[in-house]
Amino acid sequence: MTYEIRGIVKKARQVEALGYEMTWENIGDPIQKSNHVPDWMKEIIADLLKQDKTYGYADSKGVLETRKFLADLTNQRGGTMITAEDILFFNGLGDAIAKLYQFLIPTARIIGPSPAYSTHSSAEAAHANSAPITYKLDPDNQWLPDMEDLYLKVRYNPSIVGILIINPDNPTGMVYPKEVLEAFVRIAEEFNLLLITDEIYQNITYNGITAVPLSEVIGGRPAISLKGISKEFPWPGARCGWMEFYNRESSNEFSKLCQTLENAKMIEVCSTILPQLAIPKIMKHPAYFSYREEANAQIGRRSDWMREILGDIPGIKFNPTQGAFYNTIVFDEDVLKEDQFLPIADDRLKTLLDTWLQDKNMPLDKRFVYNLLAAEQICVVPISSFCSDLRGFRVTLLEENEEIFKGTFRRLGRAIETYLRAEVEQSEIERLKYKV
Ligand SMILES: Cc1ncc(COP(=O)(O)O)c(C=O)c1O
Repeated sequence: MTYEIRGIVKKARQVEALGYEMTWENIGDPIQKSNHVPDWMKEIIADLLKQDKTYGYADSKGVLETRKFLADLTNQRGGTMITAEDILFFNGLGDAIAKLYQFLIPTARIIGPSPAYSTHSSAEAAHANSAPITYKLDPDNQWLPDMEDLYLKVRYNPSIVGILIINPDNPTGMVYPKEVLEAFVRIAEEFNLLLITDEIYQNITYNGITAVPLSEVIGGRPAISLKGISKEFPWPGARCGWMEFYNRESSNEFSKLCQTLENAKMIEVCSTILPQLAIPKIMKHPAYFSYREEANAQIGRRSDWMREILGDIPGIKFNPTQGAFYNTIVFDEDVLKEDQFLPIADDRLKTLLDTWLQDKNMPLDKRFVYNLLAAEQICVVPISSFCSDLRGFRVTLLEENEEIFKGTFRRLGRAIETYLRAEVEQSEIERLKYKV
């Protein structure tokens, strides 16, 4: 198991140790990118810290009032109905994901998207002790899922008991249209499958797009929705996420799985209480909606800028993002070669890069990412590490400062063009060498 989103940091630190400033584009942590947590939110949390109850255990499933509040939010959408008893809190959605796959029977497989947020694909693969089973997201069709690929895989693999959907998607930034979600439900119906949907970015969409929650289209089928506050508040350090069980009595196996997950949480006692207490207070606050709207509009603007800067570069596939705060840029087939490089003036950086590139079996997108790290000090994540055969990389749309954002992606665009040129002329190398 690897988690390149953090793995790449070790390499980046080596560059920093040589005195260079790094542009971090590897992780979806809004706080790291200087996003401001509004003062009214901090006041709510500060007030909670003054109350003794904040220091106790919560119910094993989570704070009852908060679960009631969240169940109401889902019910207001008018789809499938839940109660507080259908919600189970975890220490971050990462914890929920790990538990979910851990407690499936080992022969039961969940098919997930490719590329995929690797916490899902790695946990699923670890549970089955086998490579992940995936359906394709298509960069030639705005990253929408290849439903035929999914259908055939499900049809011919009886060990598949469920389908994972990440909506809005990490790492592509795609948002599933309602018809596509309905098509997933039809496949689940035909093959009697569980649907799992990671909706942690549900309220992070922009430029006229909204994400339809699975609860609206699931009907009576069993499903689990995964939600959290790491991105939305944003409060990743709270380590707080939850599962919503839809139609848990619709199948015996599903009902048992829900019960097993609840029992596992009971053995642990409970999840962190402070963020659970804060959730209804923050989400009910009169400023919350407009705060999220403005934050989303800003990401939408960055999505437009990114398209203006990178959209027409030959040799790559670029799809503007519609949700979450990532973009995955894929190289056209066959444009990446072993001998491509970015010019580097500093011999210390060159030596460092040479040591990184010694592995001859390294995926070609990782070679590009390492070159970019050494030559431009921009830290992105290769898409080959997101459970994908495609070659490309993921960037974020989190940088708040317009000048830095545009500057970073202009540098990135130039680096792509330089790298893809089969032979970089010597004069070009010299020019780049002495650029300020
Ligand atoms: C799709 C998706 N699910 C889950 C998580 C994990 O969230 P948490 O911080 O709640 O563990 C992330 C974090 O990046 C994510 O992108």
